[in-house]
Amino acid sequence: MPSIVLVGAQWGDEGKGKVVDLLSEKADIVVRFQGGANAGHTLVVGGKRIVLHLIPSGILHRGKICLIGDGVVIDPEELLKEIEFLSEQGYLDDPSRLLISQKAHLVMPYHKLFDALRESRRKKPIGTTRRGIGPAYEDKVARLGIRMGDLLEEDALKEKVEALLQEKNLILERVFGELPLEAEKLYTLLLEYGKKLRPFICDTSHFLYQKLREGKRVLFEGAQGTLLDVDHGTYPFVTSCNTVSANACCGSGIGPKQIDLVLGVVKAYMTRVGEGPFPTELRDSIGEFLREKGNEYGATTGRPRRCGWFDAVAVRYALRINGADGVILTKLDTLSGLEKLKICVAYELKGKRIGEFPASAELLSRCVPIYEELPGWKEDLKGKHSLEELPAEARRYLERLNELLQVPFFLISTGPEREDVIYLRDPFTFFSDKRQL
Ligand code: IMP
Repeated sequence: MPSIVLVGAQWGDEGKGKVVDLLSEKADIVVRFQGGANAGHTLVVGGKRIVLHLIPSGILHRGKICLIGDGVVIDPEELLKEIEFLSEQGYLDDPSRLLISQKAHLVMPYHKLFDALRESRRKKPIGTTRRGIGPAYEDKVARLGIRMGDLLEEDALKEKVEALLQEKNLILERVFGELPLEAEKLYTLLLEYGKKLRPFICDTSHFLYQKLREGKRVLFEGAQGTLLDVDHGTYPFVTSCNTVSANACCGSGIGPKQIDLVLGVVKAYMTRVGEGPFPTELRDSIGEFLREKGNEYGATTGRPRRCGWFDAVAVRYALRINGADGVILTKLDTLSGLEKLKICVAYELKGKRIGEFPASAELLSRCVPIYEELPGWKEDLKGKHSLEELPAEARRYLERLNELLQVPFFLISTGPEREDVIYLRDPFTFFSDKRQL
């Protein structure tokens, strides 16, 4: 029953798309368990750039099954766009390769409206992706959500839409001064979505249970990153769900004992999109260098990402919250060409040195990083497939990160293409080795 959870251990955009793509080759099933179309996984396959927001990137591997779990909030318009694109490209010839949970909630048109309207009114914006994620999760918890399964129960759906719009329209008109939405129009749109999505909607939790019992290899693909987790991130500058490994269970309907290995995906430096504290942010030419060289622009919104030095305090915290067994390090190649590199090893807060990540965004914004400096390297890392081939300075940088993070490294990515990678440990066999110890 080899099952692996992969999660971002920073503020998202750690390069998970490429890692999932690589590991998907060895998996039978790939599962998304949280978030929605706020995520954007960019992949480069055969020189072609592909961005997926909802469907796991494992879909690009023929024969793999991809599953969108109960904890995801689905914008049907976006999902259908992806299905059409993948069908055109010949990746979805077999529709049984895509399964969508009947319990997953829908992102409705009014969720996207509320997200955008609220953001533009906030004195301190969060910098959301405006994809309706927050309002959709709010409605789920308020028991006002529409789920994928509801699309298939036409009469009950009509009643639900009418009742919901009564409240939503009051908010639209009286709070935001916007025009109301028409119930009949929305109902017709949802019926159309239901017709097109019917072949994919099913009981994904039961499917997973059976496949895990059969010994299939399952990869759970986290979206966003730990520091954007609604409980454990830099609240309120976070997304609206749990992004940590534990949510792989709730978000796909399996138990914690069915997870064998948790890996944190960590970029060789830090980035963040949107607002919120970021102690090691670089607002200078080095930040600009990282942004340009690393192509640090949001895959979903195109926004430039804020860039900074590696923050070992934040990443160690993230690995702890996830119970990570190891790390997959990405984008080491972006650092080539920098004369010196800095790693934040602790913070100074109110004149004291601290090694733990503070719980409050307010306190974090007052933390001053304490840095260690290491020499950089000039050489391009493309085509390097072992640690021995790396420049000595790059090896030194990795060793120091490894010491600070205190968990083994599994893979090191040295470029955007599938083949730009150094394999150190195989995640799909590691868990069985671990059991033997
Ligand atoms: P929301 O998830 O759209 O509500 O946005 C909340 C915060 O999470 C904002 O700072 C977004 O920029 C950030 N965010 C959401 N999804 C991603 C992602 O996939 N990568 C990086 N940041 C994200």
